[in-house]
This record gives sequence, C-alpha cells and structure tokens, in this order.
Amino acid sequence: MTQTIEEVPLIPDMPHPVAEWSNFIARASACGPMFRFLLNGEEALWLNDPTLMRMLLKAPFSEVGVGPLIKGFESAGGLGFAITVNYSDSWRPRHHVLQRPLSHRGVRELGPLLHESLRTSLASWNATDNFDPETMMTDLILDALGTTLFSGDHREFIDVIHAFDVERNAAFVKISQDPAYIPSERKEFAQALGALDAFIYSMISTRRAAPREDLLSRIVTSALQGDEPMSDQELRDEVVGLIYAGHKTTANTLAFASCILATHPDIQETLAAQVAAIAGAPDFHERWEEVVPLASEIVTETLRLYPVGDLIDRTVVGTFEMNGVVLPEGLPVLFSTFIPHHNPEVFEAPEEFSTSHCPAGRMTAKQKDSYLPFSTGPKVCLGIHLATYEAGLALALLAERWTLVSQDEKTLSLSHDPLLYAKPWPKLSLVAR
Ligand code: HEM
Repeated sequence: MTQTIEEVPLIPDMPHPVAEWSNFIARASACGPMFRFLLNGEEALWLNDPTLMRMLLKAPFSEVGVGPLIKGFESAGGLGFAITVNYSDSWRPRHHVLQRPLSHRGVRELGPLLHESLRTSLASWNATDNFDPETMMTDLILDALGTTLFSGDHREFIDVIHAFDVERNAAFVKISQDPAYIPSERKEFAQALGALDAFIYSMISTRRAAPREDLLSRIVTSALQGDEPMSDQELRDEVVGLIYAGHKTTANTLAFASCILATHPDIQETLAAQVAAIAGAPDFHERWEEVVPLASEIVTETLRLYPVGDLIDRTVVGTFEMNGVVLPEGLPVLFSTFIPHHNPEVFEAPEEFSTSHCPAGRMTAKQKDSYLPFSTGPKVCLGIHLATYEAGLALALLAERWTLVSQDEKTLSLSHDPLLYAKPWPKLSLVAR
C-alpha cells in the first residue's frame, strides 16, 4: 500500500537546519523516521532513518537531483558546474577523470608528497598555550592539499584561497536561507572569486604546457584525453570543487580530533607509543597504517562524533517512492548523518569518544548501516581515500612531535556553515615531546 506525502507528519515550526543547526537537530531527532517541515517557506522532507537515507543516496539521477541548500550556489557561488552539483550525463565522465588519481592506490602514490608537507608544517609549529585547532589544521591541510594538487605552487596564493573560503562560507549560509541572494553582488565576494579564478586558470595553463607529478597534472592530462576533452572552464570548476571539498572537511575533522586528543591523554599516549616504533623513519608514509592503527581508528570515531559534512540534500526530479511513500517531483529531501551517528540504540554512550564504537572490520550490521560520514551511492565522497589517509598520517606525525593539552573540559558547542564546526573552537596548549 502506498502513502501520499500528505500522510507524512508536518512540523511547521522547525528552526532552520543550517542557521540554527543545533536546535534543529535536537528537535528533529525526536520526530520519528521522516517528517515534513518548512524550509524557507517551502515544504521539504526530513529523514531520520539511515535506511531511508541510503535509499535516497542510492537513487538514480533520473529520480533525484541537486538539493535545495546547494542549488543556486553553483554559478552564483563561484562553484561553477563542479561534480558536487552535477547530476547530468556529464557526471560519469567527470567522475572517471577525478576518481583514478584519488583512488586508494593513487593516494598512496602521493604519500611521499603528503608526508613531506605534513612533517615540514608540523616542524614549523611553536609550543603555545594559544593553539587554535581550526586555524592550525586548516593551514596544515591546505599545504598538504596544495602540495599534492599544485606541487606547492599554491603557497603564494594562500590568502587568495582563504579569502574566497570566508566569502563562500558566508554566501552559503545566506543562500541556504534566501535562495534569491546573489553573492557576486557583494564587492568582496566578486574580488575574492576573481583572484581565485586567475590563480586556477594560470595553474591549468602551466600544467597543460608542462605536466608534473601532481594531482592537477594527472587530472589535466586525463581530462584532455577520451571522447569528451574538458575545457579550461570545466577543469577550473572541478579544481575549485576539489579545493573546497577537500580542504576544510579534513581540516575541521582534524580540529575536532585535536580537541578529542587534548581531552583524552590516555589515547594520546597510546598513539605516541605506537608512533615511537617508526619515529623519524623516511618511509613513515608507507608504514604508519600498519604500525599506528590507532591513528585511523581516531579518524573513524572522530567522523562518527563530528561528521563534518553531515547535512546532505537532494530534490526529487521524477516521482520517487521511498518506503511506500510517493514523493512528488520538486520535493526537497534533507537529512543529517549526525542523527544516526548519535543513536544510543546503535552506539552505546554515543556522546563519548570510544574507538570501540567503530572497530575496524568489526562493526555490527546496524553500526555499518548508521555510519555515513562520506555519504554513499553515486555521489559518495570522491576524496574518501585522500581524506582518511591524510588525516591519519597527520595525527600520527602530530603525535611524533607534539602533545595537545586541554585548558578546560567544556563540551563543544556546534554550529554550521557548509560544514559542522565548533563555535567557539577551544584554545589548546601545544607542548613539545
Ligand atoms: C574528512 C574529510 C571529508 C568528508 C567528511 C567528506 C564528506 C563528503 C560527503 C558527505 C560527500 C557527499 C555529499 C552528498 O552525498 O551529497 C562528499 C562528496 C565529495 N567529496 Fe568529500 N569529504 C571529505 C574530504 C574530501 C577530499 C579530501 C576530497 C578531494 C580532494 C573530497 C572530494 C569530494 C568530491 C569531489 C565530492 C563530490 C562527489 C560527487 O558529487 O560525485 N572530499 N564528501
């Protein structure tokens, strides 16, 4: 028996899921497997049940398309038609171009570059009682991403990348509440975007002329082959997409992991003890996964507690039936992976950090079903191998040299722009080993 959408409960007074993320999640999580609510005055559907989330994520592009939070952000927000917003026939060839260099093997080929960048950055840190996890991890990861993507040529353009990041995050929050908002009408946004474009186009043109060993060269070379070679504009869109999909996501994850380490000295000491076996080794990047398994376990559990890309959305494009409910064309459907990640029936004491919540290779069927930090289905994160390798290696290298100490034990307050973050991030102490 099928149900109509009108039979799904409607909760008309929900707060905004981005602007008031914490309040929204607190209320939504008590509201059953699915409910309707108003998103900027328009009716939308919210899912709480991970089985329904997976059904949505696995639906073909003939049934679901770009969601309401990101819609309008493509051209207006400077993202262009990057793969993240692409639900058209060109998605598959683009996916193919990006997938190979970002595969499990492709990422391990980048290991020496990542190792060098992370080790050099960590060596340049100074002991302090004013360690801001967000700024420090953003700089660390931006250098690692820039080293792999641009062979380090991004270093003169760090301010350009940061300036656009700030503008873009603010624009996302505004558009999510007012879809008619046009960010480029703001002078600062237009300037930041212009500077970013000049940098990206110059990188593409130099790599076209003389490819190197970096990720951009691999993408440019592969994008120019095949049946449908990509234009500069198309390449630019994908590269901008990669910078912003791959930079703050990993950085915020590491910032959360830093807060966890600082408040769990026992875990930090075990991590350091595992690292000691390969401290200073030139082939650290080849051995850490085997010798320091705790680093990957911390990343996995950090992403359960704080799934930084938790808010996921789609719009129904054809009629789509989900669990017996017929969803009409045009209906926005949203969910947050934070809710199943914090379900006490699946993860015991879900607010606590414990690597036993997600034991490698030994998660229960329910835990596997509920754990979705990188999404699933066709739009699953393309950077999953890079993010997990890079974040684990960064934690292992951090523990080789530094100890993080918490100055107070307060629970983090969470907020949202395009990503989940702590507001404020606590100041930590950084102590040399
Ligand atoms: C901890 C770090 C990361 C997290 C938590 C994360 C999370 C996600 C999530 C949840 C999605 C899917 C959204 C959806 O279903 O609509 C996604 C997509 C994507 N991610 Fe990541 N991501 C991370 C790091 C990265 C990195 C390092 C890169 C590459 C440099 C990357 C590239 C992408 C791309 C290209 C997509 C779009 C895939 C498509 O639409 O086909 N991500 N990511």
